[in-house]
Amino acid sequence: MRIAMVAGEANPFCKSGGLADVILPLSLEYVKSGHDVFVLVPFYKLIKDRKLARFCRVGQLDVHMSWRHEQADIFFSRYEGINYFFIGSISYFDRERMYGYDDDGERFAFFQLAALAWLNQVEGGVDVIHVHDHQAAMIPALLKEKKADYPNLATAKTVLTIHNPAFKGYLNPDALPELYELPRWLYDGGQVRFEGMVSTLKAGIIYSDKITTVSPNHAKELLTPEGSMGLSGVLKLRERDFVGIVNGIDEEEWNPATDYFLIKNYDRASFREGKAASREKVVTLFGLSDKGGPSFGLVSRLTSQKGVDILLPVVEKILADGNLLFLCGSGDSIYEERLRALQERFPKQFGLYVGFNSQLAHDIYAGSDFFLMPSQFEPCGIGQLIAKRYGALPIARATGGLKDTIISFDGKNGTEADGFLFEDYDVQGFEWAVKAAKAAYSNKKIFAKLVVNAMEADHSWTHSGQQYLDLYLSLMD
Ligand code: GLC
Repeated sequence: MRIAMVAGEANPFCKSGGLADVILPLSLEYVKSGHDVFVLVPFYKLIKDRKLARFCRVGQLDVHMSWRHEQADIFFSRYEGINYFFIGSISYFDRERMYGYDDDGERFAFFQLAALAWLNQVEGGVDVIHVHDHQAAMIPALLKEKKADYPNLATAKTVLTIHNPAFKGYLNPDALPELYELPRWLYDGGQVRFEGMVSTLKAGIIYSDKITTVSPNHAKELLTPEGSMGLSGVLKLRERDFVGIVNGIDEEEWNPATDYFLIKNYDRASFREGKAASREKVVTLFGLSDKGGPSFGLVSRLTSQKGVDILLPVVEKILADGNLLFLCGSGDSIYEERLRALQERFPKQFGLYVGFNSQLAHDIYAGSDFFLMPSQFEPCGIGQLIAKRYGALPIARATGGLKDTIISFDGKNGTEADGFLFEDYDVQGFEWAVKAAKAAYSNKKIFAKLVVNAMEADHSWTHSGQQYLDLYLSLMD
C-alpha cells in the first residue's frame, strides 16, 4: 500500500506532544512490512534550525485561499525508509513556535490545502490518507466536496485518528469559503458545525471513511456524553466506522538495556543496580539528599488534562513523608509557579526541571520506582508505557488508555499486575493509590515481581500497526 500520514507534528523533526511520538514508530512499522509511507508536516522554523537532516526542495505549489495566493515550497527528506514531505511557507511557518498564533486556522488551512495538492501530484498516487487531529482533519471533507480538484486521489481512502478530543479546531463559519473555498451550507446544514463554529475535527469525523482513537477504552468513553467532550453525538452517527487502537512505543528508542543516555544499562535481571545508578545520578544532579525509600518520578506537560490540580496536594504529602520526587515538565505558568514554591520548601527532596530535557527524562524514567500519572483524561498516554519498560511502576488514574495498558495491583500476589490505578479524579483516590504503591514497595518480593511484569509487558507497535493496516485493507475493494 501507499500510505500518507498528515499531521501537525512528527518525530524526529518536530514534537510538542504524544502525537509526534506516534507518527514515527507507526510509519516505521509500515515500512518494515513493505509499504510506502509519506509523512507530511509543516516545515517549521525549528526543523530548519535543528538541521537534523538534509532537506531538498522538490516542488512548489500555488495555494489558493479565495483572494489569497500563497506559495508552498515542498521539501523532502528520507528518514529510515520513510518519505517526509515538509510544507514550507515563509509567512506561515517561519516562526518561533509550532502552534499558538491567532492565525492558526489560516496556517493549517494552507497546510492541508498544500498537502492535498501535493499528494495529488505524487507519482503513483496514494491508497490511504491518514490524518491526525484537528490540524489535518479537514482533508477528508476537501477530498469529498472538491473532487474535481484532486482527480488523482479519486480512489484514496481516508482515516482520521483522534489523539486529543479537547482540541476541536474551531473556525469562524466564514472560513469555509474564505480559506477552504468550501460552500457555507456545510456549516448551515450542520455537517461541520459545532457549538456555533466550524470544527475541523467534527468535519473529519463526518467525512473520513474510518475514524480511530488511540485506545479501545477511550473509544468507549468518546461514545458517552460524560467522556466525549461533546463529541459523543457525532461519533454515534459514525459508530460502525469508529474503533480504538492502542498506541505502542518505539521499543528501540526506549530500551533501558541499550539506552545511551543512561549511566548504567539494565534489563529485568539487573534492574536493581541499573535503577540505583540512575537514581544516584538524578539525586546528584539536583543536589538532593537520599535517605532511602521509594522515589517518585513525573515527566509531563503541566496542564489540567494531566491532573496537576490533584497532583499538587499529593506530591506535597509525598515530600512531607520524606520521599524523593523528580519532575521534568512545562506548561501552564500557574502550575509551574506552584511547583517551584514546593521545590523551595523541599529543596533536598524535590528535583524540579521546568522545561523539556530529553536526557533528564530518560534518567527520571530509569531512576524512579514509581511514575505519577493522575490524568483527568488520557486518550492513550505514552509516559506510562515508557515508565513500565524502565521498571518505574505507574500510579495512574483508570481513564482512557491508562486503563487499557496498566494492570492494577490488587494487594495480593501480583501475578500479572504492573501498576496502580485509582478510579475517581480526586485527591483521596490518588492518595489511596500512592499508599497502595508504598505498601507494595515494602514487600521486596512482590515489588520485584511487579517491576519485572512491567518491564516484560509488550507495548511494541507490532500488533497495533497490523490493526491499522487491517483497517486500511478493509477499505480497499
Ligand atoms: C495526545 C493524548 C495522549 C496520547 C497522544 C498520542 O497527546 O493526550 O493521551 O497518548 O495524543 O496518541
